[in-house]
Amino acid sequence: MQTDYAELVRRTIRSVPDWPKPGVVFRDITPVLQDPRTFRALIDLFVYRYMRQRLDLVAGIDARGFIIGSVLAYELNLGFVPVRKQGKLPYRTVAEPYSLEYGNSAVEIHTDAVRTGQRVLLVDDLIATGGTMMAAVKLLQRLGANVVEAATIIDLPDLGGSANIATTGTPLYSICRYD
Ligand code: PRP
Ligand code: ADE
Repeated sequence: MQTDYAELVRRTIRSVPDWPKPGVVFRDITPVLQDPRTFRALIDLFVYRYMRQRLDLVAGIDARGFIIGSVLAYELNLGFVPVRKQGKLPYRTVAEPYSLEYGNSAVEIHTDAVRTGQRVLLVDDLIATGGTMMAAVKLLQRLGANVVEAATIIDLPDLGGSANIATTGTPLYSICRYD
C-alpha cells in the first residue's frame, strides 16, 4: 500500500521548468492537494508512519508545510506549531536566518511554542538545499524541543539538503525524490 500511495503522490506532483527563475524546476504539489484521493494517500502515508510514535506536537514550515502539517496534527490528535517567515508572528519570537535555492529569508517561532523535552515532528513539502529545514530544526532545538524527525513530501538530493540534515542527527523522511 505504501509504495502504491507514494507512487500516486509522485506521479501527481507537477514539474514546472524555469520557475520562479531560469534553471529551477519547480515541484508543484497543488495537483496532489486538489485531488481528494491523492491528498488522502499523502496524509495517510504520514499518519501510518507516525501514529505509533510518542509525539507531542507537529511543527509545519511556512507556507506549504502548514497545509500538510496541520492536517497531520489533526489526524494524530496533536497540537500544531507554525514556523513562520519573519515578521508574521505577534508575540515574543526567536528567529533564524537561512539561504534558499533562490534567495535569503528567516524563520521565526513564538518563544512559548514548545516546552523543553517535547517530542516534535517537523513537516514541510520539500527539502532542497535544506536551509529552511535546518533553520527550523535549530529554532525548535533552541526552545528545548526534541525534533524526532523531519518529514517532507519531496527530497531534491542533488541540492544537498538531505545530506546536510543527516549530519545534524535529525532523521529525515521523504515520500519521494527527484534526482
Ligand atoms: C520552499 C519549500 C521549502 C523550502 C525548501 O518554500 O516549501 O520550505 O523552499 O528550500 P530549501 O531546502 O532550499 O531551504 P519557500 O521558501 O519557497 O516558501 P513558500 O512555501 O512560501 O512558497
Ligand atoms: N523550494 C525550493 N526549491 C524548490 C523547488 N525546486 N520546487 C518547489 N519548491 C522549492
